Amino acid sequence: MLNFVSDIHNCNVVELSKINNRAGNITVIQNGDQLPFDIKRLYYLYDVPGGSERGGHAHKGLYQLIVAASGCFDVILDDGRNKKIIELNRPNFALMVIPGIWREIVNFSSGAICFVLASEKYSEDDYIRNYDEFLTFKSMDHVD
Ligand code: TYD
Repeated sequence: MLNFVSDIHNCNVVELSKINNRAGNITVIQNGDQLPFDIKRLYYLYDVPGGSERGGHAHKGLYQLIVAASGCFDVILDDGRNKKIIELNRPNFALMVIPGIWREIVNFSSGAICFVLASEKYSEDDYIRNYDEFLTFKSMDHVD
């Protein structure tokens, strides 16, 4: 059960550490630092054709941290009442997406890599892929 209000205002961009040196930068994300979950899965989207959209679903219980590891793209967040668009374009900034949020990822630049850290292993049962079902889910009492 969610113990907070599952709305877009709780999905924010966080600045990650950045270790500079003369031959580039290192950004570290590790369990216990900044994350409200332990990482169980990492996946990444790449070779996304121009004009394509990804996402188009919500998760019932999954937390995700989304990073533009290369290039840029826009994440559209929708909690059933409000929407916002977040542009991700730097590898040391990450968007936290909490459960119960419909998301679409659009406007991928050429060569963009969308890195996603997730709180759970893949489970199709955790997905809501139909928008009307999502609205029904949001209207139910999830102490959301
Ligand atoms: P999906 O999450 O719908 O992609 P996106 O949100 O990027 O548009 O996943 C696309 C397909 O990949 C779907 O058939 C499920 C599969 N998949 C896995 O098998 N494991 C995973 O960890 C992920 C993220 C997807």
